Amino acid sequence: MLIDGHGRKVNYLRVSVTERCNFRCQYCMPEKPFSWVPRENLLSFEELFLFIKVAIDEGVDKIRITGGEPLLREDLDSFIKMIHDYKPDIDLALTTNGYLLPQTAQRLKDAGLKRLNISLDSLKPEVAQQIAQKDVLKQVLKGIDAALAVGLGIKINMVPLKGINDDEILDIIAYCRDRDIKVRFIEYMENRHANEALRGMHGKEILEKVKEGHTIRALGREGASPSFNYMLDEEYEFGLIDPHKHDFCESCNRIRLTAEGNLIPCLYFDEALSISKAVKDGDIEAASQVLATVLRDKPKENRWNDFDPKDEDISARAFYETGG
Ligand code: GTP
Ligand code: 5AD
Ligand code: SF4
Repeated sequence: MLIDGHGRKVNYLRVSVTERCNFRCQYCMPEKPFSWVPRENLLSFEELFLFIKVAIDEGVDKIRITGGEPLLREDLDSFIKMIHDYKPDIDLALTTNGYLLPQTAQRLKDAGLKRLNISLDSLKPEVAQQIAQKDVLKQVLKGIDAALAVGLGIKINMVPLKGINDDEILDIIAYCRDRDIKVRFIEYMENRHANEALRGMHGKEILEKVKEGHTIRALGREGASPSFNYMLDEEYEFGLIDPHKHDFCESCNRIRLTAEGNLIPCLYFDEALSISKAVKDGDIEAASQVLATVLRDKPKENRWNDFDPKDEDISARAFYETGG
């Protein structure tokens, strides 16, 4: 079992396979980065897998593949299959913008992927285009249908932004409820790479909107997930991911690995240690040592919880690098 320096059990590894993306979401990558990580610095699937095996052997039982947009990485299904074949009962999931799902959903399912989290910030084509800076809605909806058709589990993620999509919270609930898919509303997390004019909705404001159309009852934080769940009209469950709330980090069970091999203890802070040399040398002992150090030094909590827009100390790391 992996325990961090604050006594929290860590069983969830998020693995980013690329920082590249085919969208330019205002809250993540509004402009193409000045430079991408050179391809030769990316770890191969075999190198990533070597670390994943170490993490699984030491207690990780939930792995999420992220990006950037992970479906941009070629042969991703072969990587999924490696992980699945090593431990078929692992909670193996992927987070995607959904754009490439129509042509990949079946292969992902066949490789052993269990579930997908898909971003859906608007059901209006022009608003979806405003956020992603590309005409994406039709293709994303097709992607959701394709994933449902092949039997993949799905959750929807929506980031409500003031004056942009804050009037669509009830519509997104209706869309997801109709399809029996869980939706999680994510508080916008301020960061230096996002469009600085954006203002996110606070969790409390999101819940107020939901209450305009429904009754809700708090259920509590979901085991291995960052989501706090609510029962809506006594029949449909939705979630709120609220990193600005003071208790959000108390149950943190996650660490992150970037595509170039940086192991990150907390999404907010810059600190990371590289596993690149260890896995390139095939040195399992060294990889395990880096993991132990990162766990020992994992921060107690993020600084979004007392975030002030005038703060100089805004998170410097790009979400497309860490995989959110
Ligand atoms: P489930 O297992 O399906 O609950 O997945 P998940 O919510 O962990 O994964 P997903 O990739 O869908 O992440 C949803 C959102 O939660 C993203 O915006 C993440 O950045 C955010 N999130 C996940 N973990 C953390 C965390 O430790 N800190 C903060 N601040 N946000 C997080
Ligand atoms: N704040 C909140 N959520 C974000 N995501 C990306 N950037 C941000 C941000 N700044 C979300 C995406 C995706 C998930 C992995 O992270 O919408 O659903
Ligand atoms: Fe791409 Fe996801 Fe970032 Fe949007 S949030 S730019 S889809 S990585």
